Amino acid sequence: MPRYSADTAVPVAFTLNGRAVAESAPPRRLLSDFLRHDCGATGTHVGCEHGVCGACTVLLDGEPVRSCLLFAYQVAGRQVVTVEGLAEDRGLDDLRAAFRKHHALQCGYCTPGFLVTLAAWLESGPEPDETSLREVLSGNLCRCTGYVGIVEAALEVAAARRAARDAADA
Ligand code: FES
Ligand code: FES
Repeated sequence: MPRYSADTAVPVAFTLNGRAVAESAPPRRLLSDFLRHDCGATGTHVGCEHGVCGACTVLLDGEPVRSCLLFAYQVAGRQVVTVEGLAEDRGLDDLRAAFRKHHALQCGYCTPGFLVTLAAWLESGPEPDETSLREVLSGNLCRCTGYVGIVEAALEVAAARRAARDAADA
């Protein structure tokens, strides 16, 4: 029976932003650290490191998760998308423009986590409803903005996307 220590490297193989990653890492290497330090995906920010602030949010098979609460090896065989991946496929152009328009960021530390969370929300085709949006955003903390600009930006994009869908269906 193999014996492992905390320093024994284990395989870490998954898809990151559409590209295969096949590396190894100590079993207790956090996914957030692995993404930043081993994959160069530094858009994933680390704040609290215990699942509270949401700065480290990434998509795991399309669902927002905190990458500081996962070990890297736990995403074996799965699809991880970081804010860089969202930027690459240009699926966030409207949201980024709305963030600029509504001054939805100041220091920007929380912004990647908000963008990833909102990308998943917008992908679900939501009603542009403030109450449910604020519930969705309740896991992302921002110390600068007071959230108003973030909420306004997200609602504007949700409404625009809904109008575009309705026009396409008409
Ligand atoms: Fe992961 Fe704060 S760094 S939730
Ligand atoms: Fe500074 Fe959100 S813009 S923490």
